[in-house]
Amino acid sequence: MRRSVMIACGKYLPRNCVTNADLAKRIETSDDWITQRTGIRQRYLAGEGELTSDMATAAALAALEKAGLTGRDIDAVILATTTPDQTFPATAVTVQDRIGMGDRGFAFDIQAVCSGFIYALATADNFIKSGQIKRALVIGAERMSNILDWNDRTTCVLFGDGAAAVILEASEEGAGTTADRGVISTHLHSEGAQRGLLFVNGGPSSTQTTGVIEMNGKEVFRHAVTRMSEVVTEALVTNGLSSADVQWLVPHQANKRIIDATAEKLQLPPEKVVLTVSEHGNTSAASIPLALVTAVEDGRIKRGDLLLMEAMGGGLTWGAALVRW
Ligand code: UT7
Repeated sequence: MRRSVMIACGKYLPRNCVTNADLAKRIETSDDWITQRTGIRQRYLAGEGELTSDMATAAALAALEKAGLTGRDIDAVILATTTPDQTFPATAVTVQDRIGMGDRGFAFDIQAVCSGFIYALATADNFIKSGQIKRALVIGAERMSNILDWNDRTTCVLFGDGAAAVILEASEEGAGTTADRGVISTHLHSEGAQRGLLFVNGGPSSTQTTGVIEMNGKEVFRHAVTRMSEVVTEALVTNGLSSADVQWLVPHQANKRIIDATAEKLQLPPEKVVLTVSEHGNTSAASIPLALVTAVEDGRIKRGDLLLMEAMGGGLTWGAALVRW
C-alpha cells in the first residue's frame, strides 16, 4: 500500500527576537501577564521587506538540503498560509520558482489559518496515495506581524512569524499497518457558523484592505480544547490506537494552557508533548511544522516514533494527523 513518508524537514525563523519585556515597552502589558496566560516568552518577527515567500523558501531549501534533493525532484509545493505575499498569485508559485522547479509540477496555497499545515499535509498525502505525485513539499509559513493591530494588546502579544517545511515521499514499503513509517491518517473539520470568533476584518472582496485580527479569545479557547480533544480521539480510535501508543503530541502552538488542557484530557503526560509556544509564539500555519522540526533537530523525535499532530484555527477549522516519523 502506498504511503507518504516524511523524509526530511527544515525551518526558518527571522533574526529579530522580541521578548515580552520588549513588548511591555511599546504597549500596556507585562511579561508576567503574557507568560502566565499563554506560556509565550518571546516570538520572532520578520524584518522589513522579509516576505512570507522568503521565509517559506528558506525553510524549503533547508528541507531539500537535508534530503539531498533539489527542486527538480519535487512534484508539488503545497503552502499553508493566511498571510500570502499578494492576493494572487499564490505564494507557493514564488517558492516553486525560487527552489528551481521551473515548470515542473504544480504549486498552490491552502488557507485554513492555524489548521493550515494539517490541511496541507492531508492534501499532499492524498495526492501521493492516489499515485498522482511522488514527492511534495508541504510548507507552513506566516508573517502574522502584518495582520496584527499593534494597539490591541489582547491579540498582538500572541503571534509570531516563521516558516517550516516537510518533504513527503511515496513509499510502497511495509504491510500497510500503523507500524509502517509515514502518514497513517488525517482528519479535517470545519464549522463556518463560528467564523465570527476569529477573523481578519479586511480582504479583497470586502474592504479591499488587508485588515487585522479580531478574536473572541475566551470562546476560541473553549472551542480549541473541545475540538482538538475530539479530533485527536477520532484519529486514535480510527486506527485502533490509544494515547499510550503515541510518543509525541505535536500540537498547534497557540497557548500553553490550551495544550496542557488538551494533553490532560488525553492523559498524555507533559514529557510527551512538544512545546515551542514559549519561544515562537503562535505562528499560525507554521506552528506545527516549526515544533516538529525543532524536536527532530534536538533529537527528541526519533525515527519510528508515532506523532499526533492537531490544530484549531479561524473558520473555525480543526484537524489532526497521525504520522509515524
Ligand atoms: O491559534 C488559534 C487561535 N487562538 C487561540 O487559540 C487563542 C485562544 N485564547 C486565548 O489563548 C486566551 O483567551 C487569551 C490568551 C487570548 C486571553 O486569556 P484570558 O485568560 O482569556 O484573558 P481575558 O481575555 O479574559 O483577559 C483577562 C484580563 C482582561 O482585563 P480585565 O477585563 O479582567 O480587567 C484583559 O483586558 O487581561 C487583560 N489583558 C491583558 N493584560 C495585560 C488582555 N490582554 C492583555 C495583555 N497584557 N496583553
